[in-house]
Amino acid sequence: MITFENVNKTYPNGTTAALDVSFTVPAGSTVALLGPSGAGKTTLLRMVNRLVDPDSGRITVGDRDISQINPVTLRRSIGYVLQEGGLLPHKRVLDNVALVARLNGASKADARERAQRMLTLVGLDAELGSRFPHQLSGGQQQRVGVARALVGEADVMLMDEPFGAVDPMIRRELQAQTRRLQSELGKTVLLVTHDVDEAFSLADQIVVLRTGGSVAQYATPEELLTNPADDFVADLLGLSDGARDLHVVDRGGRALVTDGSGRFIGRVRA
Ligand SMILES: Nc1ncnc2c1ncn2[C@@H]1O[C@H](COP(=O)(O)OP(=O)(O)O)[C@@H](O)[C@H]1O
Ligand SMILES: [Mg+2]
Repeated sequence: MITFENVNKTYPNGTTAALDVSFTVPAGSTVALLGPSGAGKTTLLRMVNRLVDPDSGRITVGDRDISQINPVTLRRSIGYVLQEGGLLPHKRVLDNVALVARLNGASKADARERAQRMLTLVGLDAELGSRFPHQLSGGQQQRVGVARALVGEADVMLMDEPFGAVDPMIRRELQAQTRRLQSELGKTVLLVTHDVDEAFSLADQIVVLRTGGSVAQYATPEELLTNPADDFVADLLGLSDGARDLHVVDRGGRALVTDGSGRFIGRVRA
C-alpha cells in the first residue's frame, strides 16, 4: 500500500507541483495519476522513491513513513519504469536487467537467470538479451524497462508514462500485457499518464490532477464517467464535447457502436 497524506511541494522557483494531495493506493491495485502536462504527476511519483522530498505531509509505503527510510534502500525496494526505458546504452540487454538484481544482492549467476526469466515474462526472445539497447525497437526497449522493474521482485512499481514513446498499436499490446502481468503478479502500481484511455485501461482508481497540483477527483473509472466532480474533470475525460459519447446503431440486424462523431468503432456482442 502507498498513502499520500496532505502532501505539498513548491519548487524553489515558486512553482507549486503538489497542493494538499491525499490518496491511497491499496495493496495489489493500480492507481493512475491523470492530468494535463505540468499538473505535478511526475513530481508525486518521484516522491515515492525520494527523488523529490515533499515540503510537508506524509508518504507511507507498506505502513512505513518513507522519510525515515534511506533513499538508496528505498529505491532498491521499488520498481521504476521510465518513459524512455532508461536503459544503460553500453550494457547488453540481459545485463541491464541483471544489474538491478545484482544491486539487490543476487549472485551473478542468479541475477542473470532471473533477468532471463523476466525478459521471457515480458515477451522478449532469449536471443535479444545479448543485444545492446539501440539494437531493439522502441516497444522492445519498453519491455526491457518493465523487465528491469520486475527483476528486483519489489511489491511496489512506479511507472511514468511507460508507453508514451511507442506507436499506438504497440502501446495497446503493452497495455494488454501490463494488465496480464498485474493479474498474475499482484503488484501495487502507481502509474503516471496524460492519456485518459491508458488510465481507463490500466487503473483500478484514478487521481485526476489540476494544473497547480491539487486533486480534482479520486475515483474509479466508473465513478468518473457517471459522476465527474466538475467541468474540469468532465472536459479532461472528453465528456463535455461528446468525444466519449458512444451510440448504438442498427446495421442489417447487427448492433454497431459509433463514437461521438459517428465513426464506427465496434460492435455489441450478442
Ligand atoms: N526541478 C524542478 N524545479 C522547478 N520546477 C519544476 C521542477 N520539476 C518540475 N517543475 C515544475 O513543476 C510542475 C509540475 O511538473 P511535473 O511534476 O513534471 O508535471 P507532470 O508530470 O504532470 O507534467 C511544472 O510546472 C514543472 O515545470
Ligand atoms: Mg511528467
